[in-house]
Amino acid sequence: MKEHFIIALDGHSSTGKSSLAKKIAKTFSILHIDSGALYRGVALYLYKMGQIQLLGEEKLKDVLPKIKLEFVRNGNQSLLYLNDEVAEKEIRSLQISQLVSNVAKDENIRDYLLDIQREFAKGNSVIMDGRDIGTVVFPQADLKIFLTASAEIRAERRHKEMLETGEEVSFQEVLDNVNQRDYADTHREISPLKKADDAIELDNSLLSEEQTFQEVVKLLQQKGLI
Ligand code: DC
Repeated sequence: MKEHFIIALDGHSSTGKSSLAKKIAKTFSILHIDSGALYRGVALYLYKMGQIQLLGEEKLKDVLPKIKLEFVRNGNQSLLYLNDEVAEKEIRSLQISQLVSNVAKDENIRDYLLDIQREFAKGNSVIMDGRDIGTVVFPQADLKIFLTASAEIRAERRHKEMLETGEEVSFQEVLDNVNQRDYADTHREISPLKKADDAIELDNSLLSEEQTFQEVVKLLQQKGLI
């Protein structure tokens, strides 16, 4: 097993990146960093402080150092803390989910989070999931995976999860949202979602969570990382 290694896990929304990353991290006792949670943390801070209008403005640069983002382990989970307060639930709210794609477009925010993401990996083996991990954050990652699945399958999975949590929404609405998010992620000017040339594409449309996990384990073995 290599002493320290970095796995970059990018891909479309609702492909199960986060669950996969959690399982890999737990199995091999490495750190999991959910980079989307950092963008959500910034969105929450700006929203709470009434400063969302600063997006795209130079003035935002003065605000960013006031945003302290940390992951704190709680049993098997890793929770996002924003300025010393747990923010895990709030960052997943509908309101923040709606704001975050605009936050992710801001150049100053992306620069600010770039350093933070790299700092997390210093001296650690890490699996980091996001959109630009293999292309921008860690172009030298030891293994790059690009996870994808058809929009219909992703919408079906998401729809099922939402119905289970009591959210009443039609399949068509969920599918429209998946398509909108794909468009926003891939058409963003800075660091758009795209497969790195040396990333391995894994389409899990027809794979279960366990099968997807096993595919990644195989890749880690092939690379001599585990
Ligand atoms: O994965 P997620 O839905 O929690 O991501 C939240 C938002 O942040 C989403 O709009 C995509 C964006 N994001 C990004 O631009 N770059 C990353 N590395 C991770 C997330």
